[in-house]
Amino acid sequence: MNTSTNTQTNAQKPKILVARAIFPEALAQLEESFEVRSNQADQILTPEELKKELAGVVGALVTGSERIDAQALAQAKDLKIVANISVGYNNFDVPAITTAGVMATNTPDVLTDTTADFGFALLMATARRITESEHWIRAGKWDKWSIVNNPLGMDLHGSTLGIIGMGRIGQGVAKRALGFGMKVIYHNRSRLAEADENACGASYVPKDELLRTADHVVLVLPYSAQSHHTIGEKELALMKPTATLINIARGGIVDDLALAKALREKTIFAAGLDVFEGEPSVNPELLKLSNVVLAPHIASATEKTRRAMVDLAIDNLRAALGGKKPPSLINAEVFKAE
Ligand code: DGY
Repeated sequence: MNTSTNTQTNAQKPKILVARAIFPEALAQLEESFEVRSNQADQILTPEELKKELAGVVGALVTGSERIDAQALAQAKDLKIVANISVGYNNFDVPAITTAGVMATNTPDVLTDTTADFGFALLMATARRITESEHWIRAGKWDKWSIVNNPLGMDLHGSTLGIIGMGRIGQGVAKRALGFGMKVIYHNRSRLAEADENACGASYVPKDELLRTADHVVLVLPYSAQSHHTIGEKELALMKPTATLINIARGGIVDDLALAKALREKTIFAAGLDVFEGEPSVNPELLKLSNVVLAPHIASATEKTRRAMVDLAIDNLRAALGGKKPPSLINAEVFKAE
């Protein structure tokens, strides 16, 4: 961890924590206004280290790697805001943060299109066996063009796409599917307004019906105790043997061991995963399979979008510390206008 040094003496500046590496220009800007404890080495802090670092700072920029709960906040008496550089905030124990009187924010909207693009990319790579084909070439196995003895995939055009979790990103995936001539069905905790359904050409169906009828299933729902293992053995058994499953939501939404079994036994065709239970570890059973495309949680990872996420988190932090309502405040009840 580094502490900033700057022309204005740090003694006059409020102290903040930047818990993971961010773009150097963003860090330099923060250092003009704050005494910054920063982690440009990008080593994930242990819970004990995080607790120590949060003690004595007024604001913190964190990511999904930092669990913010009562234990982390135990000594954070001056803390006013924890700004997540992520739209998902299952790393936050929101009731505990609220009880501590700390504002919690996330980074919605700025990553919607980038993440929806990636969901579609992963779907195409999975259905058309792109990474498997590349490995096949690199292994020197491509000796001729063949009608039947080349990797044969599944079509997107004319197929039915089932989206579970129809927030901003789910709707973004649906809109992309329209361009591919897909029929879109969705399941969500609450049904969308008719105008929103029409805008993305999607029809609401019960979850089991979606799993039975979709040719491709994309998961985009937030992780919570309720959504843990939304897709397990029972749900996988409902899917078509020709179907693909794409997870751009969170590890834990899918029972990865049950998925590996379904892929191994070919009760579903293939899967594309950007997130994993216990990541960055990946279940070794998944690693043995060729009908799964693996990505290291990069759905929002374009330079432009990651910069926009950092900028929004900083806007949230500056607003909170300047007595203004942060643009993406999660626990509005903590905000007291000055
Ligand atoms: C998000 O913003 O939730 C991404 O998954 C990064 O954590």
